[in-house]
Amino acid sequence: MSSLWLSSIQSSRVARFEAFLFPVVWNSKGVRWGFQQWKSRSFCVLLNRKTCQHVGTLRTKQLPLYCCLSSEAVVRLNTSELPATSNIPPSILEKTKEKLHLLPNHPLHILKTLIEKSIEEMHPREFSFYDDLPQLVSTKDCFDDLLVELNHPSRRYTDTYYWDEKHVLRTHMTAHDTTLLRAGKRAFLLTGDVYRRDSIDKSHYPVFHQVDAVRIFDRNTSQNEDKIIADLKSTLEKLAKNLFQSDMEIRWVDGEFPFTYPSFEMEVLWNGSWLELLGCGLLKRGVLDAGQVDKDSKGWAFGLGLERLAMVLFDIPDIRLFWSKDERFLRQFRDGEITKFKPYSKYPSCYKDITFWLSEKFHENAFYELVRSIAGDTVEQVTLLDEFHRNNKTSHCYRIVYRSMDRSLTNDEVDEIQDKIREEVARRLQVTLR
Ligand code: PHE
Repeated sequence: MSSLWLSSIQSSRVARFEAFLFPVVWNSKGVRWGFQQWKSRSFCVLLNRKTCQHVGTLRTKQLPLYCCLSSEAVVRLNTSELPATSNIPPSILEKTKEKLHLLPNHPLHILKTLIEKSIEEMHPREFSFYDDLPQLVSTKDCFDDLLVELNHPSRRYTDTYYWDEKHVLRTHMTAHDTTLLRAGKRAFLLTGDVYRRDSIDKSHYPVFHQVDAVRIFDRNTSQNEDKIIADLKSTLEKLAKNLFQSDMEIRWVDGEFPFTYPSFEMEVLWNGSWLELLGCGLLKRGVLDAGQVDKDSKGWAFGLGLERLAMVLFDIPDIRLFWSKDERFLRQFRDGEITKFKPYSKYPSCYKDITFWLSEKFHENAFYELVRSIAGDTVEQVTLLDEFHRNNKTSHCYRIVYRSMDRSLTNDEVDEIQDKIREEVARRLQVTLR
């Protein structure tokens, strides 16, 4: 793609725009680029990845889809100050740089590649694959275009990371669907990191990874919805068989998503219990309209969480391990292979309790996040041990379990973290410590 792209560059423009260059970011195609407004027109500045020299400048109109999609959001995410109203802590912002699904030999990368390969084999040369779309999206992309109602919990400040009123860290990969449809794409598969404010335990983390796909059918096929549903289900059943490398027992249950109807969930029988693997369905007309898909066409979409799948397939017991830099974790995996994780000795855990009277400002997710932002990945779990009411007041007692995946924590270190948590919870959430 990049050679075609670069051949249309007007090099005379390059020098002129040098002074206006934003700090730029890499795209996965080996070219660096940044956006700039000049005389109220947008331009994209391209740089060679190795030499960091300009290779060209393009007008927005001429830009390939890849750049258009990533324009404003990436510049914002990489160059701007976080607005004061944002609820994104620096620890979460840091995570946007990691892109675990792009790291060779990482379990998430292994699965992503296997899924892409399966889809390509089933539908040769039909799908476009994207794995580096910007994590910051508009509320229109993430919610409005997908018919997510105004009072839906996923829109709340307590559940979602807002950059400002109109931009969020994507809560799901489906957020890119209507943009890609408007750009004329009719079959695509997207992989990326998604963000949700959440509780802390072995299987929940505020950042995780999803694969989403869309396939649109032309008028002839679209007349028969059953045919599209059959295609969706057979695609996903084959995908599950490829991933689990065996004939698993699979069942379909009804699902509910704002953007699809009918909706389904696929479950697989794994070690004697049913595991929910993914959500899918036919895209609603309202979504297709937002994507400017013509009236006679219909299509399916699905989305699956990579961590949950990887935890099962690789036998990974704790979601924090995916973020580990420990060689004992990383060197166990090889691209193209699904192998069982061999646990190495766990470092000891310890716990501390914290009890306080709630305030108006208190929200559980804000508390979890505050704990996480202070303790980082040394916190394994936070659980509500006890709740009681007296004189119209409510008291909560939480147990915070500390354990590092990479080293032994000292007592002093944990005490210091706990003190800091007490201090910050009292200050920021205005609770009364007991
Ligand atoms: N976006 C949904 C989620 O995050 C998954 C999904 C994608 C469901 C596409 C249906 C169609 O849970």
